[in-house]
Amino acid sequence: QIKRQTVVDIVAHKNGQPVVMLTAYTAPMAKLFDPHVDMLLVGDSLGMVLYGMDTTLPVTLEMMIAHGAAVVRGSQQAMVVVDMPFGSYQESPAQAFRNAARVLSESGAAAVKLEGGEEMAETVEFLVRRGVPVVGHVGLTPQHVNAFGGFRSRGRSEAEADKIRRDAQAISDAGAFAMVIEGTVEQLAREITASVNAVTIGIGASPACDGQVLVSEDILGLFTDFRPKFVKRYADLASTVSDAAATYADEVRSRAFPSAEYCFGVKKG
Ligand code: KIV
Ligand code: NA
Repeated sequence: QIKRQTVVDIVAHKNGQPVVMLTAYTAPMAKLFDPHVDMLLVGDSLGMVLYGMDTTLPVTLEMMIAHGAAVVRGSQQAMVVVDMPFGSYQESPAQAFRNAARVLSESGAAAVKLEGGEEMAETVEFLVRRGVPVVGHVGLTPQHVNAFGGFRSRGRSEAEADKIRRDAQAISDAGAFAMVIEGTVEQLAREITASVNAVTIGIGASPACDGQVLVSEDILGLFTDFRPKFVKRYADLASTVSDAAATYADEVRSRAFPSAEYCFGVKKG
């Protein structure tokens, strides 16, 4: 029985070796990533990369719990963090606690992640004081896509940068042990990382953060509808998968598959 990384292990990365985080949504992928990462994020990005939704807004709590449980079953040592979906925590601290408690108890994950800054600080403190470890998410927060008018980098104007600085400080002061900083310029990520206690995990936020996260389907080249500037593709699985399907289809049509070795009661000739 391997011991899972805990909040204490992750917090020890502040100003140390970078935290490695990847998204995972299924047990087999979690099993492949687990030996290599510190944290597995069951992101609500699954709505877009697995379910074909245009945004993360239609993702439900039931979906997050089901995928969270799969990732916990598939992994052994990484800390598993599950995203709270849109509408499951913004109403009140009590609503957030009720749903976060379901996520932790029904999936077995160790922490939840929620988007937002100053307006969510009271909720973050409410959760943390009641035993729910919280990861924040500031900057480009995809659940705000309708308010932002699209997915674009944040904090380029001084007013926007100021707001993100205050957001990061507020959720760190409220007790979030880590926070994702998404889609911001390096200078801002550097200032936030230097001033907050929380471990900062960047996605499109420069190497100045305490760690990095990417969406696994993006690094594997499996999700190819669009590629944000900050995504580096480490593999091209889309072609591998499509070639496998094409070869299988050809062999079925030509009756080359199944050959004798794949059949019961047929002598290999
Ligand atoms: O949903 C997600 O995958 C995320 C990461 C991009 C940080 O929130
Ligand atoms: Na997310």
